Amino acid sequence: MPENLHVIILAAGAGSRMRSSLPKVLQPLGHQSLIRHVLETAQSVNPDSIHVVYGHAGEQVRAHLADAPLQWVWQKQQKGTGHAVEHALQQIPDDARVLVLYGDVPLLRKETLEPVLSQPQAVLTAIVDNPTGYGRIVRQGDAIARIVEEKDADAREKAIDEINSGILTANALKLKKWLRQADYANQQGEKYLTDVVAIAAAEGRPFMAVPVADSDEVAGANTMAQLADLERIWQNRQRHKLLQAGVRMANPESVIIRGQVTAGCDVFLDQGVILQGQVVLEDGVSVGPYSILSDCRLSKAATVHAHSIIEQAHIGPEASVGPFARIRPGTTLGAGSKVGNFVETKQTTLGAGSKASHLSYLGDAIVGEQVNIGAGTITCNYDGVNKHQTIIEDGAFIGSDTQLVAPVRVGKNATIGAGTTLTHDAPAEQLTLSRVKQRHVPDWRSPRDKKAEQENS
Ligand code: UD1
Ligand code: CA
Repeated sequence: MPENLHVIILAAGAGSRMRSSLPKVLQPLGHQSLIRHVLETAQSVNPDSIHVVYGHAGEQVRAHLADAPLQWVWQKQQKGTGHAVEHALQQIPDDARVLVLYGDVPLLRKETLEPVLSQPQAVLTAIVDNPTGYGRIVRQGDAIARIVEEKDADAREKAIDEINSGILTANALKLKKWLRQADYANQQGEKYLTDVVAIAAAEGRPFMAVPVADSDEVAGANTMAQLADLERIWQNRQRHKLLQAGVRMANPESVIIRGQVTAGCDVFLDQGVILQGQVVLEDGVSVGPYSILSDCRLSKAATVHAHSIIEQAHIGPEASVGPFARIRPGTTLGAGSKVGNFVETKQTTLGAGSKASHLSYLGDAIVGEQVNIGAGTITCNYDGVNKHQTIIEDGAFIGSDTQLVAPVRVGKNATIGAGTTLTHDAPAEQLTLSRVKQRHVPDWRSPRDKKAEQENS
């Protein structure tokens, strides 16, 4: 990469064609905003500094990137891409090399910038099926004579299928000089960055055209329809990476990835799986249809059945989750454990081989190994102000429909009778139950019986 490289990211536009209250460069693509994608690309070429031109909804954009080491350039009025670059150049030394990136062109890869930066002065172009809306490249051999914006183009120029990506590189001093010569005499009354190309060519120093191999990389997001196209391209890239890594997918098109996924061998993703944040899927993991996994680790041969939601949790080896389970933050499921349908867990550890197969809530609980949690068991962990813990020791058997009023402890191998409301600790090895004795009322007459009697009398 060239010495003394300064990147300018243009991000001041209103993005009015989006028809959204969110500034265009903050619209999401995959797991992060458009501008974050562009920032990653900028950082990948190791520049001396990165200058972001901001304007429309500027404070929101600045706040969004508060953690990044950036030079901020305020463009009060959005008078065009040339006007924006001129602003940024004020704080860039004359001898610097400049690379201009667009905040709304997020799919660009480092590998694609390399041939651009290997030229002293070049524009990244693309041959596309539908050039509508883009600036057209008027060639002069390998160099560019001028770039014509769609709105300023005549019929012959509109027929050109090589377009301007917007991405260009040149020396800072030259850009400063050429931008001073550029004017506002065009359909949009703006100062176009693209005008420097004709000015340079007239001086006998034309920009080289560097065509991109895959035109998807320079696609811009001006409308929601275009943003949706970019999302599709992005998702395809992510799925492709997983398929390359050996993940099997029932229907790749239906799998959505919004984050970093690491996958081992023989991992299977069924229809409609969504993976978010940092997700680790170890060897042999299988994820059932329409499950959502966020920031979690699934150990070897763990199985997630249909329609389950897992967030900030660790699922142990050969453990089984769902269908219809909700595993909330702070859950750790031990090896071979099972959480079945309509079970919710939060801040809970379930030991190896323990099972909560049906309709339970386990919150703030430490459950030992080989514990059986009967259907309808609830940890009453919240008193309206504080959260309290439930501890269930190894081998305990919790009968169905038990309420464990925390803080409470169930000892080793204890059995809790069905329907118990446990308000005190249950001793190890014993049966504990709180239950009203069952009785029978032989001479009881139901309202229906009474009504029938009245009618007959
Ligand atoms: C621009 C190019 C066009 C190219 C296309 C590629 C010009 C004149 N046209 O058109 O040749 O094919 O990109 O996507 O350069 N911006 C500012 N300040 C401004 C104006 C724009 O920061 O005053 C920013 C926008 O936020 C955006 C970028 O510059 O990130 C491009 O602006 P936009 O209005 O989207 O340009 P296009 O019409 O797409
Ligand atoms: Ca654009």
